[in-house]
Amino acid sequence: MKVTIDNITVEVPAGTSILNAARAIGGDVVPPAMCYYSKLEGSGGKCRTCLVEVSKGSEKDPRPMPKLVASCRTNVMDGMEVKNITSDKVLDARKGVVEILLINHPLDCPVCDQAGECHLQDLSYEHGASGTRYEFERRTFEKEDIGDYISLHMTRCILCYRCVYTADQLTNKREHGILERGDHSEISTLLGKSLDNEFIGNVIDVCPVGALTDKTFRFKNRVWFTKPLDAHRDCPTCSGKVRLWMRGDEVFRVTARKDKWGEVEDWICNDCRFHQKEAKDWVIEGPSKIDRHSVIAQGHYVNTVKPPVFIDKVIGKNPKLLLDIHKVSDVNRPDVDLSKIEGPAHSDDFKKNK
Ligand code: SF4
Ligand code: FES
Repeated sequence: MKVTIDNITVEVPAGTSILNAARAIGGDVVPPAMCYYSKLEGSGGKCRTCLVEVSKGSEKDPRPMPKLVASCRTNVMDGMEVKNITSDKVLDARKGVVEILLINHPLDCPVCDQAGECHLQDLSYEHGASGTRYEFERRTFEKEDIGDYISLHMTRCILCYRCVYTADQLTNKREHGILERGDHSEISTLLGKSLDNEFIGNVIDVCPVGALTDKTFRFKNRVWFTKPLDAHRDCPTCSGKVRLWMRGDEVFRVTARKDKWGEVEDWICNDCRFHQKEAKDWVIEGPSKIDRHSVIAQGHYVNTVKPPVFIDKVIGKNPKLLLDIHKVSDVNRPDVDLSKIEGPAHSDDFKKNK
């Protein structure tokens, strides 16, 4: 089926969701997704961050859809036209969704282990408002200990259900779920049981925020100071293909490898994740490719792949440059190539006679 998203047309098989059609295009036209997870059956439809405007329903019935729709739960029709970043309505609604998600989410990023790889942090930078209109107290919960490996911070949870589906679809006996309703909803094991199934560690990787974090990594390092490396081992339980987060020779954390949408490629077992913390336990393949705009990709990366830029196609022309900085400023000499200077640039590097 042919579908046009933000003026870019793509052909996808029938039954594809708008979100996945946008992922087939890539770049900025892909709506953010906080609850949809392609590897988890039934996921999506909870968070509303992926809302888009359908300005033409299909070739047969060109009427626009009356309301914004969740792109992860709406399938494409032949001839459909969708607006994401080209719709002011969508951008406005997304801002509202971020505001709602942040009503109860604490702004404790400076101490949260998820900082730097938190989808809500990225979402609020890209779509959030700088203030809140909310005047009431945020929700608080009784602290619950769910075992030796996983730490639950319920105040950070956005109730996306990903961890529930993961436990349900990956482990034989799910022990946690969402209890209560509405404002009182919370992730819990009800009787304070611990989560100890051998694949349960994967709930940490699917959680888009810092509600479920790795107790063995807790407060040990900031994620952007560690270096992710792809590694494998011969594991009798899982594929053994992991990502090691190292600093020097020390393995600080082991996680599953994630694809460019932040989704786990291969689920890994608790033994690989929590117990194999020596570099000698692993065969190191090389630096992981981080190709999204994550803070982890900054600084110490080689072969970083930048997401494609589609702005010229979306607006139908090349963007007009407001000014050429070299024409209005004497600060930098255009013939000085900053990337060729070893170490940080210094004023001497710009001296005329150099
Ligand atoms: S704990 Fe994390 S994965 Fe589970 S519902 Fe809350 S936000 Fe989603
Ligand atoms: S990703 Fe579509 S509703 Fe959450």
